[in-house]
Amino acid sequence: MEVKTSLLDNMIGVGDMVLLEPLTEDSFLENLRKRFDHNEIYTYIGSVVISVNPYRSLPIYSPEKVEEYRNRNFYELSPHIYALADEAYRSLRDQDKDQCILITGESGAGKTEASKLVMSYVAAVCGKGQEVNKVKEQLLQSNPVLEAFGNAKTVRNDNSSRFGKYMDIEFDFKGDPLGGVISNYLLEKSRVVKQPRGERNFHIFYQLLSGASDDTLKKLKLDRDFSKYNYLSLDSAVVNGLDDATSFRTVKNAMQIVGFMEDEVQSVLELVAAVLKLGNIEFKPESRLNGTDESRVKDKNDLKEMCELLGIEQTVLERAFSYRTVEAKVEKVSTTLNVAQAYYARDALAKNLYSRLFSWLVTRINESIKAQTKTRHKVMGVLDIYGFEIFEDNSFEQFIINYCNEKLQQIFIELTLREEQEEYVREGIEWTNIEYFNNAIICDLIENNQNGIMAMLDEECLRPGTVTDETFLDKLNTVCAEHQHFESRLSKNSKFLNDHSLPHSCFRIQHYAGKVLYCVEGFVDKNNDLLYRDLSQAMYKASHSLIKLLFPEGNPAKVNLKRPPTAGFQFKASVGTLMRNLQTKNPNYIRCIKPNDKKAAHIFTESLVCHQVNYLGLMENVRVRRAGYAFRQAYEPCLERYKMLCKRTWPHWRAPAREGVEVLMADLQVPTEEFSYGRSKIFIRNPRTLFFLEERRRQCLEDLATLIQKIYRGWKCRTHFLLLKKSQIVIAAWYRRYAQQKKYHKIKSATTIVQSYTRGWQARKLLRELKHQKRCEEAATTIAAYWHGTQARMELRRLKQEVRNKHAVTVIWAYWQGTKARRELRRLKEEARRKHAVAVIWACWQGLKVRREYRKFFRANAGKKIYNFTIQRIMQKYFFGLKKTLPSMSPIDKNWPARPYRFLDGAHTELKRLFHLWRCKKYRSQFTEEKKAVYEEKLEASELFKDKKSLYPSSVSQPFKGDYLEISKNPKYQKLNSSVEEKVLLADVVNKINRANGKGATRILLLTKKNVVLADQKTGQVKASVALPDLTSVSVSTQNDGFFALKLKEGSASAVKGDFLLSSEHLIETITKLHHIGSTASDDGEQLNVDITDEFLVQFKQDKVCVKFIQGAPKNGNGVSCKRKNNRLLEVSVPASA
Ligand SMILES: Nc1ncnc2c1ncn2[C@@H]1O[C@H](COP(=O)(O)OP(=O)(O)O)[C@@H](O)[C@H]1O
Ligand SMILES: [Mg+2]
Repeated sequence: MEVKTSLLDNMIGVGDMVLLEPLTEDSFLENLRKRFDHNEIYTYIGSVVISVNPYRSLPIYSPEKVEEYRNRNFYELSPHIYALADEAYRSLRDQDKDQCILITGESGAGKTEASKLVMSYVAAVCGKGQEVNKVKEQLLQSNPVLEAFGNAKTVRNDNSSRFGKYMDIEFDFKGDPLGGVISNYLLEKSRVVKQPRGERNFHIFYQLLSGASDDTLKKLKLDRDFSKYNYLSLDSAVVNGLDDATSFRTVKNAMQIVGFMEDEVQSVLELVAAVLKLGNIEFKPESRLNGTDESRVKDKNDLKEMCELLGIEQTVLERAFSYRTVEAKVEKVSTTLNVAQAYYARDALAKNLYSRLFSWLVTRINESIKAQTKTRHKVMGVLDIYGFEIFEDNSFEQFIINYCNEKLQQIFIELTLREEQEEYVREGIEWTNIEYFNNAIICDLIENNQNGIMAMLDEECLRPGTVTDETFLDKLNTVCAEHQHFESRLSKNSKFLNDHSLPHSCFRIQHYAGKVLYCVEGFVDKNNDLLYRDLSQAMYKASHSLIKLLFPEGNPAKVNLKRPPTAGFQFKASVGTLMRNLQTKNPNYIRCIKPNDKKAAHIFTESLVCHQVNYLGLMENVRVRRAGYAFRQAYEPCLERYKMLCKRTWPHWRAPAREGVEVLMADLQVPTEEFSYGRSKIFIRNPRTLFFLEERRRQCLEDLATLIQKIYRGWKCRTHFLLLKKSQIVIAAWYRRYAQQKKYHKIKSATTIVQSYTRGWQARKLLRELKHQKRCEEAATTIAAYWHGTQARMELRRLKQEVRNKHAVTVIWAYWQGTKARRELRRLKEEARRKHAVAVIWACWQGLKVRREYRKFFRANAGKKIYNFTIQRIMQKYFFGLKKTLPSMSPIDKNWPARPYRFLDGAHTELKRLFHLWRCKKYRSQFTEEKKAVYEEKLEASELFKDKKSLYPSSVSQPFKGDYLEISKNPKYQKLNSSVEEKVLLADVVNKINRANGKGATRILLLTKKNVVLADQKTGQVKASVALPDLTSVSVSTQNDGFFALKLKEGSASAVKGDFLLSSEHLIETITKLHHIGSTASDDGEQLNVDITDEFLVQFKQDKVCVKFIQGAPKNGNGVSCKRKNNRLLEVSVPASA
């Protein structure tokens, strides 16, 4: 790729008009045309960029182009808007100068596009990062939103900005964008209700109707058909190359990126829909009694829908369209509106609604994009204001717009032409004045506070009495008639009376850019910008939050009787602020030129361009530029910046700065015609010289940087080296120590090994020698032994031979004798065998004969003997087996081994019995006398009661203790014990049954060998003592009770008191003992009778009572009860044992 290094390379025409030769209007236009034909739409005048609208997309805005222009000097590459943007951005970033980019030109010249290009370039080259990218994206996406609401198709431009826009982009010190602030200027709101022929309303209306979904439209109560809406002009609803539906989606998306909430977007759309609906509200006259007409809403459907959309009460709005309340200081007067006034009110409402919505959008966008940090910002302002406009019908809007353009031109003149020339004079630079048209006079005509057109208009609007556009024109005619830039048919001197191109109701201003005829109709109204208070109050009452917000003056609490400032006044004020703002910044100009009126590519209408070149003052611009100096700078900053280029000024220059700069320039051999010395500044004629200086400075800075780097690197390397060296010594020391240690250990171990080898070798050698010596000794011994052995063996052999010889003789003799003896023996044996055989045969014969004789005897006796023997063996085996399997010695063990043979059945059972008796005997023999007595007693009890009394079984397991009261030991019974002579055999507590009631009284019962004693339990006093012989019998029941009756012998001493009926816990024992003692005590051996019966008689003192035992219901515990049934019967109820 060819790298361009200057704008002079491959140039079409001249890239910088300053270089144009000769400089005439024709050559200027020719140069523009030539470049335009070759797609070179940008041309410089010094640092001003002229841009000719190509009306087609050119491939010069690619990312590669951005890279190409990035960080390059202005004059290095062919002219481009990017070069200007880069220059501005870099001076902002590097020199800390706030910048503004002023884009001027008439409508459709490409201002808005240019502003977008500048913004996109800056966005592309500035910093990156998530946060920065978000800011950039929001800044860029604010454009589509504002364009949708603020742009419209006009005859000049299909996407004409109908508002002025100034955007401050804020950067931090690094040059990263932080945010921005947008200011908007005067939206052309009259467009909302009426559009000139061939033009459209604002884009958003069409975008909403074409792009919104059916659902959204239904919600907004809208119809897709444009023709349904009065406010939408039909003749150019569809514009070539504009896709409203797609744009709608883009706008919605952009709103979302900028940070609009879903409901905010919805609110905005609702307002847009409300405006459309409002346009459809129509009125009809209704005659009143006093003859005036009053307006009434014709078809209330649209009104109703609009009210629903905005949440307004229908009657309130309806009333506001029929009446108008005028509030004076004290009273309120309500007048009716006629149809025309109603329409006016409707349109005013629509316009206000829309323009306020637009301002709200700008505020809302600002909220999103405003910089978050409070630190100082660098600012780049981009001004894209509506261009100069000349239409067939020019009204208040055009007047305002053109005024704004005049002001901008003024700034341009101020900064580039006048300021510059004045500076030359001030600085004492030789200078031939260049004539140019200064439009200050036109600005004065319009804005002068005393007699300016705007002041007149305001005066007229505020004046009491009837005010019309005509009275305003009259006023102008009187006040401004003298002005050379003002023309009117009715001006005082009537010098224009013959000018028929000037209608009566119009005036003409000769703007810097041409003459414009303004029709006064609507000026007063538009300037007043009146919205009846009833309407703003109706809007304030709406429940729709956004609409309420837009009409704060409708708040009845804040009634302000003062008139609001007029539209003209407001605009003038904001333009004034803007101008002051721009003046504080470094300006960068883009002057847009429109090549033709057809919005068509490739057409260059020379006359049109010529006109623009003239009024933009471009020729003068070139001239001033050529005569003047491209660059100036005060001596101090200049010296500060370039002093490193000269040895004498570097690093310090002590003398005045101007001298330093002179020395510097001389040293650098800059040609003297290239610069001039002013009083406080140096003026450099050519940018080239500046670039030369800058380039030298850059190189020098590089050298300086290299030097600093060199020294720093040297220092860094040295420090590093020293560190390395120090470390190396430490490491070396450690390593050497380690190596020496290792070597020493190696040598030591080697020495040990060598030593051990040597020692081993020596030892082995010694061993070998010793072994050899020993072997020699052994060998000698062995040889001697062998020798002796050989000798001995030889002797032995000789002796053996001798013996063998002798022995052989003996053996042979023996053999001979043997042979003889064996022969003899054989003969004798033969003989004996023969004799034996004969004997055997004899014996066999005899045996055979005997056996034949005895066979019958054997059969009769032998079987019996065998049988006996077998039986004997079996018995023996049985007894031995039994011995081993005998059961234990316990008498109650029931085990007995099984019988092995049936024939032993009887013996086996007998043996079992015998064994049992034997072991019982054995068991008994172990008993002591006492134990025996106990058992005997138990036996006696069994004989007495077993199977006779149900109480018995429970007594079996209870030992018979006898003395339950431990009477001899217990001190309580000491007295009682001593009163009884005999040994106490039984002492127990019993109940003595009272015959009167059957209840018992406790008594102590003592039993001795001779007496039965009853004593009081508490006192131990003897109550009765019965000698045993006086007892005849004892009666008990068969049941489970402890009752017994002691019956006494009739006539005996004891019988006086009668029988005793008692009850005892130990009945069985008591009776057994009584029986036992009774039988042993009686002299005559008479037994004591024990009667066991359930009914017996007891002889009490007087009479006999029958005691009867009956079985009661089973009960737990001892529940025996004794009851007296009558005088003769005691009934004892014994519960059946469980
Ligand atoms: N640099 C450009 N490249 C291509 N087309 C352009 C360029 N500048 C302007 N245009 C075309 O001209 C039209 C009008 O431009 P615009 O910037 O809206 O004019 P202005 O803002 O000055 O009224 C744009 O819609 C676009 O089609
Ligand atoms: Mg524009």
